[in-house]
Amino acid sequence: MSGAGFDGRYDDEAGLKVALNRLSTSPPLVTSWEIERLRGDLADAAAGRRLVLVAGDCAETFDDCRSASISARLKVLLRMSLVLVATTQRPVVRIGRLAGQYAKPRSEPTETRQGADGSAVTLPSYFGDLVNGAAFDADIRRPDPRRLVDGYHNAALTLNFVRSLLAGGFADLHAASAWDAKDLLGAVRVRYEGHQETVRRALAVGDALDGARRPDAALYTSHEGLHLGYEGALTREVPRRAGHWCLSTHFPWIGDRTRQLDGKHVAFFAACENPVAVKLGPKATGADVCALAARLDPSGSPGRLTFVTRLGSAAPGRLPELLDAGAGLAAGWLVDPMHGNTRAMPDGRKVRFVDDVVEEIAVTARAHRAAGTRLSGLHLEVAGEDVTECVGCGVVEADLRRAYGSACDPRLNPSQAVFVAEAFATAAQV
Ligand code: PEP
Ligand code: CO
Repeated sequence: MSGAGFDGRYDDEAGLKVALNRLSTSPPLVTSWEIERLRGDLADAAAGRRLVLVAGDCAETFDDCRSASISARLKVLLRMSLVLVATTQRPVVRIGRLAGQYAKPRSEPTETRQGADGSAVTLPSYFGDLVNGAAFDADIRRPDPRRLVDGYHNAALTLNFVRSLLAGGFADLHAASAWDAKDLLGAVRVRYEGHQETVRRALAVGDALDGARRPDAALYTSHEGLHLGYEGALTREVPRRAGHWCLSTHFPWIGDRTRQLDGKHVAFFAACENPVAVKLGPKATGADVCALAARLDPSGSPGRLTFVTRLGSAAPGRLPELLDAGAGLAAGWLVDPMHGNTRAMPDGRKVRFVDDVVEEIAVTARAHRAAGTRLSGLHLEVAGEDVTECVGCGVVEADLRRAYGSACDPRLNPSQAVFVAEAFATAAQV
């Protein structure tokens, strides 16, 4: 994994072979027809008929594969989508960073800490539960190929529970009263209840006009396509459809650290049929946008390619250049207002400020208006629980120690997430 820290090498080569063989003979996690439907939904979004919401953990952990955690994460995604529907009257394509967001790119391949005797100890960085464990221990930090199979199993269990909840109507806007506001704070809660009422009334009118029309109850999954061993083992040809399908997730993305034009990740996803997203950080240029589009979407097919800008609120510098380059392309555009806005606290802990997140959304929306391109949605890191990892909406810096549970980057809590969804609807003026 060039540029991402982990080089993909395992001490246990035989174990890696066994794991990859096991994955390549196991059933897929998602299907080609679901992926095709998503591609159509993303094409609609790029044309302004839908909004896209991608949200979930920075680093999902195997321990998160529990019913309470899964339903809480689903609920925060659904509540944000309710806000977007109520405020924009646009259907929302809901995509969870879920059921496979287990591999993390890191800037440094190793981490050094002080051992008990005061000497420096250097171990491999934590690359996500798919590769190694987070605890600072030589055995746990050693990349372990059995984790690939565990990751597949946890993704399958997570998806199985999500699919059952969906089948029971959990994601249907008609069930929105179940996505309660109990844990939301103060003014955010009052406004959220107002959005719930807006949707309830609109559905009552819609149902009265044309019978039992069900609004879109679908939900898709997405994760960074970082570990090409894992992705490759779950990429297949399928009956009656051409091409290769990455069946570990509906919507893989290529991270900012692995989007090199001549790199393995771009080559891999260029050869898959899935819709694919590419993150664009502060170093991306207009020439990169054109070249990535030529490589990943040579025929200009709507829904195939989505760019996700994450430049930071303080230095959106190159954004006009990126958008000008993209103006004539079929690609859709989302904003990830999280990854360019990570700061370090004095104790080394990572933090993000809701004000920076909202500012990046506003700056990005303005830049799209100036360039004549369309900002069609959001990509966020959010938690299902009331964590204190980002500052804003009632969380102050002194709170950060209280409930900091992220295995990697700071996530928005449900109140902050609902607040940011409102801010997006206002800024994007959709
Ligand atoms: C992420 O989305 O978790 C991530 C690492 O993003 P980026 O590649 O944009 O840094
Ligand atoms: Co992250």
